Formats: sequence, C-alpha cells, structure tokens
Amino acid sequence: MVIQSDLIVAMITSNYDVVLPLLLSALTIAFFLSGRYPGRKDDVIPGRLGIPFFGETLSFLSATNSDKGCYDFVTQRRSWYGRWFKTRIFGKIHVFVPSVEGAKTVFTNDFTIFNKGYVKSMADTVGNKSLLTSPHESHKRIRRLLSDPFSMSSLSKFVQKIDRMLCQRLTTLETNGQSFMVLHFSMKLTFDAMCDMLMSVTDDSLLRQIERDCTAVSDAMLSFPVMIPGTRYYKGIKARQRLMETFRDMITLRRTGNANINPDDFLGSMLKRDSYPDDEKLSDQEIMDNLLTLIIAGQTTTAAAMMWSVKFLSDNPQVLDKLREEQLSILRRKPTGALLTLEDLNSMPYASQVVKETLRMSNVLLWFPRVVADDCKIQGKWTVDDPDPRLERKAHIPRLRSGCPITLIALHDVK
Ligand code: HEM
Repeated sequence: MVIQSDLIVAMITSNYDVVLPLLLSALTIAFFLSGRYPGRKDDVIPGRLGIPFFGETLSFLSATNSDKGCYDFVTQRRSWYGRWFKTRIFGKIHVFVPSVEGAKTVFTNDFTIFNKGYVKSMADTVGNKSLLTSPHESHKRIRRLLSDPFSMSSLSKFVQKIDRMLCQRLTTLETNGQSFMVLHFSMKLTFDAMCDMLMSVTDDSLLRQIERDCTAVSDAMLSFPVMIPGTRYYKGIKARQRLMETFRDMITLRRTGNANINPDDFLGSMLKRDSYPDDEKLSDQEIMDNLLTLIIAGQTTTAAAMMWSVKFLSDNPQVLDKLREEQLSILRRKPTGALLTLEDLNSMPYASQVVKETLRMSNVLLWFPRVVADDCKIQGKWTVDDPDPRLERKAHIPRLRSGCPITLIALHDVK
C-alpha cells in the first residue's frame, strides 16, 4: 500500500484544523487506478470509493457549488471516517492528508515520491506547458526562466504602481461614499495589476474581455471534463482558446515591432530571449500557458486574501488598531503624497503577521493534489482526529457529533 494510515497520526494545533484540511494535500493514489493495487487487506485508510470512475465526484461538486463550499465535503467525511480518508473524485482515488507533518512530507518530496497531479479539468484549462501541470523535466527550466522578470528592481517599480492604482481607486470610492464589495474591488484591482505587470495591458475594454475569459477558465478548473455545450468545462475550454488567440496576437504585434508597449514587462522579458538557445528561452506555447496561469494564480488568491483580511480585521478591532498604527507611523516618516516603497513593505512586521495569519485562517488555496509515485509512509504525532465542532442533533446534552475521535501513540514514538 502506498500510505500506511495506521502509522499516520496528525500533528495539528487546533488552528491548523481549519487550515490544513483544505491545504489539502490530496494524494492521488495511482496504484488503485492502474489496478496494480487491487485493495489489499491492510489497506486501512477508511472511506468510500463509490462507483467506478465517478465515485463521489457529484457529492464533491455539489458541496463545491453550495454555499458551504468544498470544505463541507471534507468535514462530512472526516466526521464519518476520521481525519484521513479516501474517496474517488474525477476518476481518481484521493487520500486527504490533514496534518502539518503530512503536508511537509508531501511538499518536500515534490518530483521524487510525489508528482503534481492536478485533475484533468485543471490541466486542460491552464494548458500542459503551465508550471502547474508541466512534468519535472521542463518544470525546473520553465520556473527558472519565469522567475527572472520578478527581480527586486522590477518588483520595486511595481509596488509604486499598485500603490498609485489602489490610492486612486479607494479615493474614488470614498468620494462616492457608497458601500462596495471588497471582493469585487480586490478581484478587479489584482486582475488589472497582473495584466499591467505581465503584458502592459491597461485598455479597459481589453482588460474586461480578458477578465471574462479568465473567469470562465477559472470556473472550469474544477469541473467535469466533458465537452458538452453549456457546461462550465466547455465554456472554460472555449475561453481558453480565445485567450490563446489574444496572447498570440500580442506576441506577433510585439515581434513585428508594431506595439508601442513597455518592453520591460513580463512578456517583453520573455520575448527578449527569442534569439537564445532553446533551453534558455520559453516556447510561445510555454509563454502563453504561463501568462494564463500567472493571471489566474495571481488574481484569485490575492483577491481572496484581501477580502478575508478585511473580514478578520473587522472581527478583531484591536488588531486593526495596531495595524493602522504601524501604517500611520510609516506614513508620518514619508513626505506628503510619497508612494510606498519596497523598503516600506519590509518595515511592516505587524502587517506581515496579519497577512500570514489571514492566509493561515482563510486557506485561500485549497487544492494541492499530488500523485504518489511510490510506496510511502507519512507519520506525525497525535491530535483529535476530527475537530468538527458540530453538535449532535436532537440531543438534550450538548455533545460533539463526531464523538471526539483521537488516535494515540506512545510518547516514546514521538520525536
Ligand atoms: C495570497 C496569494 C497567494 C497564495 C496563497 C498562493 C499560494 C500558492 C501555493 C500554495 C502554491 C503551490 C501549489 C502546488 O504546489 O500545488 C502556488 C503555486 C503557484 N503560484 Fe501562488 N499563491 C499566491 C499568489 C500568487 C501570485 C500573485 C502569483 C503570480 C504572480 C502566483 C503564481 C503561482 C504559480 C505560477 C504557481 C506554480 C508554481 C510552481 O509549480 O512552481 N501565486 N501558489
């Protein structure tokens, strides 16, 4: 068996209980699929695989589509089976890994024991040259070349650009004096910022056209991968095709020298390598797939984190006061109207903690599938196996519905 779950115990603080299940390292156990591992008796990971291929995909999608979110699918199964459970979704068997130890083991063994294993819909929508889906051999090269333009000096220029953008938009909203949705605001801000940084696109109608298509792609990333008109997957694939055409036109325009555009943006720095040897440049398809990936990965995560930070700060006014004081102390040291610098960002220890806490609490990126390449053991310490806080229904004494399952291991086995 791939993972010996009787040896697996979770080392989770109560807070991580919120974060980690959805920092879910969902390990796709390829052995089951391939038939090489036809359900041995010592397979002790509990769970339900359901019917072949479909398994519990519909339950997963229905939780994802409900206002409880995909976490509800996980919470339910954890209350039925315990913290570790297996299920079959999108045609593959997944084991949900809920522990810090487990997550560390998975992420420190990328491309050795574990391979990235995003579901088909995700791979189809972002493209097979995307960093998210590319195989080990090309991943290292693509990542190295993609990271190049994100140098400190270009980030430094960009901090000022975003600061200006943010101040202008917030001033307009304040002048209007109307209520607005932070999520809409931050989605638009991060999208416009990403498109400016990556491709110097600032024209509003082009931005909105690209945004509509990116949203369709993003919506299709977790969908049933069948090309039936009207479905999310179909719309996402069509949107991807339009985006590829748009990006291709931009590349052609730049190569023919007709584009009056800042060559120092991300796309410009990729195209500057046109005359380099193959291993020192990205192909056009690699550039286009990763433009799409960067826009989507950058927009949705950052915008959600911004929204959650506002929500958590509103719930914790004393934290908001302390954060505001740190910001004001930086402002007082600067000339009136001066923009934010990278150095300013590095002198905000409290803000940095607020960001980290927000990411820990909100769990904005909940999907980390990995395929197990070989037998492995993931081990940790203990905690309550199911932190589900829901109570038993119709009980006259409040009791946890889960019964508070725990797993014990002897202290001498714990490092
Ligand atoms: C709050 C903001 C963000 C969070 C929480 C976040 C989180 C993550 C996580 C956890 C991964 C690892 C996924 C995996 O290995 O399966 C990842 C990968 C990635 N992120 Fe982000 N991210 C954020 C912002 C951004 C931004 C702004 C960009 C683009 C400029 C970006 C681009 C990427 C890319 C390209 C990858 C794939 C990296 C690789 O495979 O080497 N992310 N992100």
